[in-house]
Amino acid sequence: MDTPGFKDAYASVLEAFVESQGEQSLMEAAEMGCELVHAGVPPEDIAEIHEEALRRLAEKSEDKTLLEFVQRISAPLMEMLMAYGLAFREREEERRRAQGQLEASHGRLEHMLHGMIQVVEQMTEVRDPYTAGHQARVAELSTAIARQMGLPEETCVSLVDMTARVHDIGKAAVPAEILSKPGKLNDSEFALIKTHPQVAYDILKSAELPYPVAEAVLQHHERLDGSGYPQGLSGDDILPEAQILAVADVVEAMSSHRPYRPALGIEAALDEVSSGSGIRYDPDTVAACLAVFRQNGFAFSSSA
Ligand SMILES: [Fe+2]
Ligand SMILES: [Fe+2]
Repeated sequence: MDTPGFKDAYASVLEAFVESQGEQSLMEAAEMGCELVHAGVPPEDIAEIHEEALRRLAEKSEDKTLLEFVQRISAPLMEMLMAYGLAFREREEERRRAQGQLEASHGRLEHMLHGMIQVVEQMTEVRDPYTAGHQARVAELSTAIARQMGLPEETCVSLVDMTARVHDIGKAAVPAEILSKPGKLNDSEFALIKTHPQVAYDILKSAELPYPVAEAVLQHHERLDGSGYPQGLSGDDILPEAQILAVADVVEAMSSHRPYRPALGIEAALDEVSSGSGIRYDPDTVAACLAVFRQNGFAFSSSA
């Protein structure tokens, strides 16, 4: 609020009242005072503005009787504004306190949620040591890609991080011998592996998480051209977070050692996502992934 401008306007409204003694001007003065209250000007400052307006009037006015009259009615007007201002300030403080409490409890909930996600993540990895660290590394790369794409931190990056950390929990339903089988999987074994996104979705959907974690996990093996599983979704039907996860998952998996093959290396992994850009993988996500490695020098913090 432009306080000096307001002071002049307020003084001339009071002056108009002295000249006309009209109720209209008095109402205007009261309304202007209320405006100050709503703008959050402290009651003490409002009193000062009011007193200064009266002082200016006293200096200018020749009609002492009228001036006395204004001074007499100005006290109740001021009292009303002060009471209103104090009530307003109390309400504002109360609102700020409640907001602070809400933010603190939201922070505690987020903390608990991350703790729970970590427990689930570690449980999967205890059972399947071959992919130990896989989810954490996919989370590292996914969040780097999401940031490179300029996605909002509070929603998308958090969602991508949470989703990546638990994306393979459905493998708990796959026999450990299949997960750690050194050779090529047969059709029925591969069919069992392919159930893991749905199993994870069934576990996560009842958790009432603040983000669509269950949906993004369900879609992490879907491909842009509809060649993925379990639903064969294509294009925009796949959540952007799931598209990020898909790229990061492939890059991490190819660059790491697996029971059935040695690590293929980062370059082979980046070649795979580049050649599938716009076909199997979202082109913006692939471009961001390449930039993360080639321009930002990304490296996984732990090795597979
Ligand atoms: Fe997976
Ligand atoms: Fe994975």
